[in-house]
Amino acid sequence: MIKEKVAVVTGAARGIGHGIAKKLADDGCAIAIFDILNFDDVKDNIDAIKEKNIPVLYFQGDLTNNQDRNQFVTKIMEEYGRIDFLINNAGVAPKSRKDILETTEESYDFVMDINLKGTFFFTQKIANIMIEEKENSDLNIEAKIVNIASTSSYTSSPNRGEYCISKAGISMITKLYADRLAEYGINVYEVRPGIIYTDMTSVVKDKYDKLIEEGITPIKRWGHPEDIAKAVSVFCSGMLDFSTAEVINVDGGFHLRRL
Ligand SMILES: NC(=O)c1ccc[n+]([C@@H]2O[C@H](COP(=O)([O-])OP(=O)(O)OC[C@H]3O[C@@H](n4cnc5c(N)ncnc54)[C@H](O)[C@@H]3O)[C@@H](O)[C@H]2O)c1
Repeated sequence: MIKEKVAVVTGAARGIGHGIAKKLADDGCAIAIFDILNFDDVKDNIDAIKEKNIPVLYFQGDLTNNQDRNQFVTKIMEEYGRIDFLINNAGVAPKSRKDILETTEESYDFVMDINLKGTFFFTQKIANIMIEEKENSDLNIEAKIVNIASTSSYTSSPNRGEYCISKAGISMITKLYADRLAEYGINVYEVRPGIIYTDMTSVVKDKYDKLIEEGITPIKRWGHPEDIAKAVSVFCSGMLDFSTAEVINVDGGFHLRRL
């Protein structure tokens, strides 16, 4: 078993997940990345994490595929022999935004299978490993799970309803696993990003530039992957050990109700 704490981050080839992996590497964790993108296409991003001089494992797989998920976990246990943190970050937006009166079943299944079903069953798999680790007290592992939800967990966007439903579901996954895993000393947390500049939001840049300028968020700027990564780092730090199912909004104050 390696001496470093091991952080498993889904969807960390780019964007928010990549920012999280870099920050946890800075914190001294070995990193295991699960992402659907081809390694050669994201090699520069992975090299940037390796610069931190910690072990980095990259596995190309699809979160919706049970076999891929199992092979990834087998590889982590073979190479690292432990899992300390799971960061459920991988997610997609609908390929095209459509009013809920027009949403197709294809788009619904695409978004829900990755964001919700894939995340639920991956969490189940890792949670069972974490329970085994906790029951073997010699290991002394402080396991934690952090889910990347969204302001869409509670905000209506009728032109991408399937995304909002998937993120509301993620927020329930946080509660369910926090409840079920508390008896093992495994805490489960959630970060709700607001408007964060990544590939996912680059297609709606002009729209969000305007909304931010007009004051949709009290803090008038785009968020960045580093903003989310810092919140994840706090949750993994162990400084919040008497809290579980706790949520940090990293959204420039979007969640405030204003009059
Ligand atoms: N960008 C934002 O403004 C924002 C706001 C709120 C929440 N989020 C959430 O943050 C997370 C990361 O988003 P991002 O903006 O970095 O997007 P992104 O598209 O830049 O990154 C998503 C990553 O997930 C991976 N991924 C997609 N489908 C996958 C699959 N089937 N199996 C494995 N990996 C897969 C992608 O390859 C990519 O590396 C998502 O869950 C997203 O819903 C983003």
